[in-house]
This record gives sequence, structure tokens and C-alpha cells, in this order.
Amino acid sequence: MIAETNLSVKSQQIIDLEDKYGAHNYHPLPVVLERGQGVFVWDVDGKKYYDFLSAYSAVNQGHCHPKIVQTLVEQSQKLSLTSRAFHNNVLGEYEKFITGLFGFDKVLPMNTGAEAVETAIKLARKWGYEKKGVAENAAKLIVCSGNFHGRTISIVSASTDSDARKNFGPYTPGYITIPYNTIEALAEALKDTSVVGFLVEPIQGEAGVLVPNEGYLRTCSEMCKAANVLFIADEIQTGIARTGQMLACDHESVKPDMLILGKALSGGMYPVSAVLANDEVMMCIKPGQHGSTYGGNPLGCKIAITAMNVVIDERLAENSEKLGEVLRTELRAIHSERLTTVRGKGLLNAIVIKEINGITAWEVCLKLAENGLLAKPTHGDIIRFAPPLVITNEQILECASIIKKTLESFN
Ligand SMILES: Cc1ncc(COP(=O)(O)O)c(C=O)c1O
Repeated sequence: MIAETNLSVKSQQIIDLEDKYGAHNYHPLPVVLERGQGVFVWDVDGKKYYDFLSAYSAVNQGHCHPKIVQTLVEQSQKLSLTSRAFHNNVLGEYEKFITGLFGFDKVLPMNTGAEAVETAIKLARKWGYEKKGVAENAAKLIVCSGNFHGRTISIVSASTDSDARKNFGPYTPGYITIPYNTIEALAEALKDTSVVGFLVEPIQGEAGVLVPNEGYLRTCSEMCKAANVLFIADEIQTGIARTGQMLACDHESVKPDMLILGKALSGGMYPVSAVLANDEVMMCIKPGQHGSTYGGNPLGCKIAITAMNVVIDERLAENSEKLGEVLRTELRAIHSERLTTVRGKGLLNAIVIKEINGITAWEVCLKLAENGLLAKPTHGDIIRFAPPLVITNEQILECASIIKKTLESFN
């Protein structure tokens, strides 16, 4: 059982531990998970759920994918970390693999998404000063309102979310914020010759899966090129087959100047992130100017190679494209006065819930969990549906019927 008032003693004890000893920087659903396999997770009482969040799109390959687990076990018994003070025998292999896969000259390996975004910001600034000729300390990046790029000081400085920003100042300067999905605003901002980059999510995930107009990314990238500004795609959430193509930018045949990846790059097994760029940009960074103790470690590199091969071998982009259509069709056929919007691309989707009689997206998520499907509300009224991409047609239909039953139970 999941109703907040009706937790098992075991679950409650574990939640109490977190409450007492952990910082309260999250507000999780009251479910305590202990096992995962493929599209399913199990709680400490043995109840089985469909995972419709996939650790915010990190577990695209499914929980504990046997090939990724095997790689983790094998490499961890050989060599896990050397730091970059020495070479290791896996980094080069990984770098060749990942740059070949995405078509860039070079990769800079990091660990978390936020670190990769920070890396991209630093690279863009350095390129701006050393190649574009921007005056010292004058570089600016264009960002979009509603963005989510992570939680560091420099990144929250570019955020428009008051929860993310409030009382974390002073903020890092050098950002111009424009509305998302608005070409005219970008054109205006690009008139500033100290702009070095445009940092954008191809679909705004945390904002509630906001899909821009068709052609938006292509037009933005062409405008950036014309203005000698780097088009920087944050594909940490949208990348690695989540939206029905390997990259969301692929839907519009757009090649960013810098590509930021994280999350599913390691299939949820280990923190691995990356920035990819061509030499003109990447070679601006010299020894001693950027790095991370764990970045490029052999364990993460091996895991990422296997995780990417799983996506390719199991044709997860095709599955995501096909089953995303099935899911949205099923969701649109649900007749509920609470369900006002269904949107998304591939298997990155969201519904918008209208609050009626005090029943919000939170209560809907509690009920979904009770019915065997885990999803998390965002911004009060939005529920994201992003299952692992290994889900089958039969399973997605079952999930759609769980969602239908749940929404109708409030009628
Ligand atoms: C688009 C995007 N960028 C960056 C991040 C930050 O990644 P991390 O939480 O690994 O730092 C996220 C995380 O949700 C994201 O969705």
C-alpha cells in the first residue's frame, strides 16, 4: 500500500531514517524501492511497479540491464579509477567510440549532468575570448526561461525558477534570458556581439516536457551560425534515444556545436557525463584548466560503451518513437475532466492535471502508485511519463489502462 497514511512499518521506518539524517532537499513519493529489473521496480514489501520516471531518464536501458551489470562487475574487478594523472587503457577506446557515434572531433568526460553543463559554459567562454575575440570578462550566454540545467551556482544563476535560485546569490553574471520557443527573442539577443553561446534543451524536460515548434532548433542553430555563436544542446534528458531518435536534435537534422550528455549515457549504472565538440572549441582547453578526479575513469568509460551499445543493438530509439505514439494515442482517448493536456515526443511525455476538489497531480501520483505505476508530479499540475525504453507494446497498453483506471477513479 502506498497511501501516505497507510505505509508498512518497514517503509515508514526507512523513510523516518531519511527524514532524520538526510537533508530535506527532495520531496519523494512515499515508496521505498529495493530492487529493479527492466521496466519494473519492487518496494521493500515486495510490491511491483512500472517505473514511469526512469530516474529522470537515466535508466533508458531498463533497470540493472544484464550487459551493463556484467561490464560494471568485470571492470570494477580490474581497475576503477586512476585519476587523469596517468593514462588508463579504456579512456582512449571510449573517446574514439563516443566521438565516432555522435560525430565530433573530441569529448571531455565528466560525471554528473551539472558538471557537464558547467564544462560547456567554461568552454564557450574560453572559445569566445580566444577565438571569437570577445573582450575580457564580457562573454555572455543566452539561456531560456523555464530551463533546467542543474544545481550549481553558475547554473542556477541562469535559472528562472525561484525555488532553484532564492537565497543562493550572489549569482554568476553573463546570461541573457529569453523566452523558450521564440525565434524573435533569440534574434534580438544575438545582436549583442559579446554573446558566445546559446544553451538550450531541445525539449524542456523539467519544465514539464515542453516541446518547441517544429523547426525551432534548426532555425536557432542557423541563426547562431550566422552570428558566430555556439549552439549548445543540453541533451542530458532528451538524449540517448529518449525522444525517438538518438538525440532530440536529430529530429531536425541539427548538429550542435557542443553536445552535452549525461544520465542514460551510463544506463543508470554510474555517473557519466560528457561534452562533445570539434577541435576549434575543445582545443581551447589546455592542461590544468579544467578536469575532475573521476572524469574519464575506466569503470565509467566501459559502462558507457556498453550502455550505448545496448541502445543501438536493442533499437531503443525506434521502440521509443513507436511506443511513444501508442502511449499518447491511448492517453488522448481517456475521458477525464482532470486530464487537460497530453504532450511529448517518443517516450518523454507529460500530462497536465486540472485540480478539482483538492485532487492535484500529487494525489493522482499516489493513486497511480497504489495501482502499480510510479510517476512524479512537477510544478504542481504536471505528471511526466518516461518509462525505460525497453518497454513492450503490451506493457505500454497495460500502463495506459492503469492511468485510465486511476484518473477515472476520481470521477
Ligand atoms: C536537461 C538537464 N540538464 C542538466 C541536468 C542536471 O543533471 P544532474 O542532475 O546529473 O546534475 C538535468 C537533470 O535533470 C537535466 O534534465
